[in-house]
Amino acid sequence: MNKPKILVARAVFPEVLAKLAQHFDVESNQTDELWTPVQLIAKLQGKQGVFTTGSERIDAALLAACPSLKICANMAVGYNNFDLDAMTAAGVLGTNTPDVLTETTADFGFALLMATARRMAEAEHFLRAGQWTRWSYDMLAGSDIHGSTLGILGMGRIGQGIARRGALGFGMKVIYHNRSRLDAATEAECKASFVSKEELLKTADHLVLVLPYSASSHHAIGAPELAQMKPTATLINIARGGIVDDAALAAALRNKTIAAAGLDVFEGEPSVHPDLLTVPNVVLTPHIASATMPTRLAMANLAADNLIEFFMKNKALTPVNHA
Ligand code: DGY
Repeated sequence: MNKPKILVARAVFPEVLAKLAQHFDVESNQTDELWTPVQLIAKLQGKQGVFTTGSERIDAALLAACPSLKICANMAVGYNNFDLDAMTAAGVLGTNTPDVLTETTADFGFALLMATARRMAEAEHFLRAGQWTRWSYDMLAGSDIHGSTLGILGMGRIGQGIARRGALGFGMKVIYHNRSRLDAATEAECKASFVSKEELLKTADHLVLVLPYSASSHHAIGAPELAQMKPTATLINIARGGIVDDAALAAALRNKTIAAAGLDVFEGEPSVHPDLLTVPNVVLTPHIASATMPTRLAMANLAADNLIEFFMKNKALTPVNHA
């Protein structure tokens, strides 16, 4: 019997590729060049499944040009590279990789918060540049984490992981805002209180963004929201570019509307707004919140298992739509 044909759109772990090859006729992008939409469409001809990484846009035009496609398995928990309505209309299933990256991503969110509030990147540049010639009482003084108020916008699995770290590890008061309020048991476990978005912005000493990107979360943090935050506050974005208006944030950092920001995701990444590169009070990392080898392997395996289960049992493990 002919094996189903699949495309692996980026380089992945050899052991994951070997597992896929047991079940599929696999074409893979081992050179890891980023294909243009036209190249991706050409590569997808005759393929029934695709292993994507979040960089590949799956939209109505691609789906119309690739009628054999049945499933897109994203190696990411976020799937804003999928036009889900178009996929559902075309009968194409989408899957993501929840749970396996939760704790790793929450660790990173906390690391970025610590680095930002305690000005670690700025301090390292200062030292390397030979500027550390004497002591002064306010040299690179940042803001405290312990005992402060941690605000979380988006209280899914990763948001809850950050809340637990803040409340249990650092004695922070945790407040959150989410589309829907958590049940009482989960709130108690995370020691987190639900507040309005306005109160979150006004009250948080540190605000961490962990909400999914959608048309309704586009620029959820822009100039008006930044103006409501404390001038001593830090803002952390480990969610998606586009949730923050990066130009407005750069201006707010320059004007000291807020004290500092830590960003792992950017509008139009891998490009970074040039103004963010010139303000000192921002820590910038290249979308690495889930980047530990065990977690990336678990994500790749879950994306592969979604393809295998779908073709072998007609039931994916972690679907994001009903197709
Ligand atoms: C995710 O899984 O969505 C992370 O942001 C990595 O892309």
